[in-house]
Amino acid sequence: MILSKKVASIKPSVTLEISAKAKALKKEGKDIIAFTAGEPDFNTPDYIIKEAERALVEGKTKYTPTAGIPELKKAIVKKLKAENNLEYKESNIVVSSGAKSSLYHAFEAILNEGDEVIIPAPYWITYVEQVGLAGGVCKIVNTDEKSGYKLIKEQFEGAITPKTKCVLINSPCNPTGVVYTKDELLELARVAEKHNLIIISDEVYEKLVFDGEEHVSIASLTPYAKEHTVVINGVSKTYAMTGWRIGYMACPEEIASAVSAMQGHTTSNACSFAQYASATAIEGGHEFVDYMVREFDYRRKALVEGLSLIDGIRLVYPKGAFYVFMDVSAFFGKSYHGKVITGSVSFAEALLEGGVAVIPGLAFGDDNSVRLAYTVSGEDIYRGIDTFKAFIAELN
Ligand SMILES: Cc1ncc(COP(=O)(O)O)c(C=O)c1O
Repeated sequence: MILSKKVASIKPSVTLEISAKAKALKKEGKDIIAFTAGEPDFNTPDYIIKEAERALVEGKTKYTPTAGIPELKKAIVKKLKAENNLEYKESNIVVSSGAKSSLYHAFEAILNEGDEVIIPAPYWITYVEQVGLAGGVCKIVNTDEKSGYKLIKEQFEGAITPKTKCVLINSPCNPTGVVYTKDELLELARVAEKHNLIIISDEVYEKLVFDGEEHVSIASLTPYAKEHTVVINGVSKTYAMTGWRIGYMACPEEIASAVSAMQGHTTSNACSFAQYASATAIEGGHEFVDYMVREFDYRRKALVEGLSLIDGIRLVYPKGAFYVFMDVSAFFGKSYHGKVITGSVSFAEALLEGGVAVIPGLAFGDDNSVRLAYTVSGEDIYRGIDTFKAFIAELN
């Protein structure tokens, strides 16, 4: 059977491969500490579940307006004003089945064949696949520990060509946990303005910031940025609602209408009762989020401090999201149980044999590193560090 060139270009997910291997080993009864899940290990708070139940009982089980129910759009508009200093109307908001879906629709609405999208690496791999599916071309800009894994003005400007259409900013960042400051974002916004670029700002980890860091939306920094940014957000990470599949974009009306029209022929509305629950989540108290952030902060410190003591590990202290991204290239060339480690994939495979599952950096465009998600219990963090140390000690 001959399938489309589009699907043939999709690369198999390194993340899924290693997660599947970890699961299979666990099933065999091996004690694997998995730092792989990109989702909070907390249950969705009760007040949100109750609202979904209420919506179901009241028959909110039919199609809704394609771009989202007014209740949810209102809650999003209010949130963006109060928390992000962003003034939008309901017509600027499109609710989709997860932020992933919002992102894909945004690329489809913006890109023509061959248009370039600047993406700083390390990146969340989905951006690369989605840009390709939408006919765009990724212009990857490598950042490293020295620049704190941040795209800097000069690099950004150097990557722009006549074909550049937009730039992708993800702060707080998956996989590095890096959070851009207001001044850094302002510099990037000015470059975007100078070259008339659209900004896609993925802010799904906005609430997960530590050490007094502040999340700033680039869209709030200049009038140009407001008029040319697609802000992507959702409830998955903030309210432990990954399975509910509710994300949204806030953007100029032109883009919102285009996305809504497209969505009308692809997914239609996002799940009706999950939309009602999401409105309540966004409007609700901050107790749950505060509690979750405190818990993640404690785990972050424990994990980073434990790993930093291991000779050869290099990392930038993460200030947001729930990931630690670390350079393990000092161990390349060494062997584990007779197998030579040559890059991030063989490192992750060997480490999995040693009892710890991590995601190879290759999945994020950096083959010298691996990503650990601290979406596991505090106890598992300490066990993970000990197992990791034992693994390193066995390398020769
Ligand atoms: C950077 C980033 N953006 C967007 C998403 C998608 O979130 P959602 O569950 O809303 O589709 C993820 C999920 O892993 C992510 O890591």
